[in-house]
Amino acid sequence: MGKLFEIPEEKMTRKEAEKRIKELRKIIEYHNYRYYVLDSPEISDAEYDELYRELVHLEEMFPELITSDSPTQRVGAPPRKGFETVRHYQKMLSLQDVFSFKELDEWFERVERALGMKETDYVCEVKLDGAAVALVFKKGVLVRGATRGDGEVGEDITPNIKTIRSIPLKLLADNPPELIEVRGEAYMSKDEFKRINKEREEKGEPLFANPRNAAAGSLRQLDSSITASRKLTFAAHGLGYAEGVSFSSHYNVLNFFKDSGIPITPVVKYCRTREEVKEFCKEWEDKRHTLAFEIDGVVIKVNRLDYQNALGETSKAPRWAVAYKFPPEEKVTRLVDIMVSVGRTGALTPVAILEPVFVAGSTVSRATLHNEDEIKRKDVRIGDFVIVRKAGDVIPEVVAPVPSRRTGKESFFKMPDKCPVCGSDVIRLEGEAISRCTGGISCPAQVFNHIIHWGSRSAMDIDGLGPAVVTQLLDKKLISTVADLYFLTVDDLLKVEHFADKAASNLYDAIQNSKDRPLNRLIFGLGIRHVGEHLSKVLASFYGSLDRLMEATEEELLEIEEVGPKIATSIVTFFKQAHNLEVIQKLRRAGVNFGRAEKMIKEGPLSGLTFVFTGALKSMSRAEAEELTEKLGGKASSSVSTKTDYVVVGESPGSKYEKALALGVKTISEEEFLDLIGEEF
Ligand code: IVH
Repeated sequence: MGKLFEIPEEKMTRKEAEKRIKELRKIIEYHNYRYYVLDSPEISDAEYDELYRELVHLEEMFPELITSDSPTQRVGAPPRKGFETVRHYQKMLSLQDVFSFKELDEWFERVERALGMKETDYVCEVKLDGAAVALVFKKGVLVRGATRGDGEVGEDITPNIKTIRSIPLKLLADNPPELIEVRGEAYMSKDEFKRINKEREEKGEPLFANPRNAAAGSLRQLDSSITASRKLTFAAHGLGYAEGVSFSSHYNVLNFFKDSGIPITPVVKYCRTREEVKEFCKEWEDKRHTLAFEIDGVVIKVNRLDYQNALGETSKAPRWAVAYKFPPEEKVTRLVDIMVSVGRTGALTPVAILEPVFVAGSTVSRATLHNEDEIKRKDVRIGDFVIVRKAGDVIPEVVAPVPSRRTGKESFFKMPDKCPVCGSDVIRLEGEAISRCTGGISCPAQVFNHIIHWGSRSAMDIDGLGPAVVTQLLDKKLISTVADLYFLTVDDLLKVEHFADKAASNLYDAIQNSKDRPLNRLIFGLGIRHVGEHLSKVLASFYGSLDRLMEATEEELLEIEEVGPKIATSIVTFFKQAHNLEVIQKLRRAGVNFGRAEKMIKEGPLSGLTFVFTGALKSMSRAEAEELTEKLGGKASSSVSTKTDYVVVGESPGSKYEKALALGVKTISEEEFLDLIGEEF
């Protein structure tokens, strides 16, 4: 993103500067929010840096305009809801950046002048592009892991930290110090980043923009099993606070970490001169793509800790360290065409077809353009010369066109109004950036996802219809839509590899049985965008049959409380697609239930509670008790789990009673159950 409007800064009046400063703060806060809270940035780091530097520059010109809430006055992100907050033992600062050797020399001069000497020694480390974390070891035991947060207060992510294999839960040292706070980076390899994004793409989930966002997003999961499923790595790069141990140099600190079993920054060099530092910077700027993980620069630190203390810090960053940031690697090439690919969720993504160009370690001939708005925002035209780089060193992206190289023959891109795969209408719903194919159940690009959804527990509940089986049925051309499932024979199913007679006939039965599912599940199973489980129930009870729903107009749909314009458009468009109607006709021929609906879950005194009944009840049969529970909004289950709220114990209870005791689930008597439902009984 270039500057939004250009006023030569030298000539800027105070008033103009004030206006621009306000504007920049707003833009930067917005991007901070996208980056830190949503883990989903919209602009590249380089673009962000440019905005940030512009703000710093203007604030330097007019220091009286600096306010305490300016983004330049704070270190990191505010803690996100859902985690306990913890105060760091010592403030977690950020780093001052330099972007050239000239700026680096200026830093050397400032340091050496302040120390009153010509030259001192330094430690250089690659700058890992991950998320900063602080680990606390008390008497050698890991007791806490936290994010940086706003620098003073971070989020307590101890359970997540403990899932990172490279972090020792106990230090190797014989005589561990009373307390140390280890600062470091949690990061993700490029391979793991690719693996996770591939998985997310298959599930139709939004992709992470780069390994850093993936690492940050994984660390801040409330469910630590998600963190555990993503391979994060940790490397220590500094000591925050220590009791019972002291060091004379940063290099010694790193060695102490190593000896204690704490992994340190994987590429480190002790340097005696400025020249050695610069050589290290150059070397790794060239070799950055050979590493298995992303680096975005080199961190240079004054080695001696007494010198570090003497140099001190500003409110934001230490004076004894600096980050030499690498320029993003960019190349110019020609955008030959823009094609549209259809994802498994029906999303249409414009893809730039490029004249092949070597960038950041490999040849690139395609790059995502994300969506229509993005193309407009960047003003990219077919035939343009464009600047290409790799987001997160992995995903090629078009940064911007080079307007000066235009010939006038370039053409504008327009999103097609028919799906390039199935020919159904493409719609872009109000407020959404993504255009989608509406041939959800008939479009070959989406059919895999749709069949899996169709067979899922909350839809048609077809046991045994997993991804491996669906892949084979599609590959062997035994089916091309969900309707074909109902015409499969046991013999057809036997063609699925590793399927014995029993499995084939079980799946056959499961498919046939699913024909009787209530109407709401059929509606949900159709996978109409924005029609979830609850709305399917509402629609089923409102219309009573699929045929009635298919005839509904937008106006009629809008009369339903839960339906807004976006949903109404989505439903009506879905039933207008000829290919979808063919599939629906075939489902009808197969004898799938188009009428009867499931009872709506009632709101009642037992809403949200799950009951299990065991033993004989005096006032009613178990079946009656279960029916009553559901009538009052509760759920009656046949097995006890930690999700069970109450086990109602009748006479001569069975093993469910023991299981309840073992799991610590609350048990109540029949009388207590009757008290609970009170007057309703
Ligand atoms: S030293 C006072 N060394 O970069 C901060 N930081 O942009 C001293 N980072 O918050 C940090 N690799 O999370 C240091 N080898 C390294 C680093 C590194 C990555 C991160 C760190 C810091 C951020 C600043």
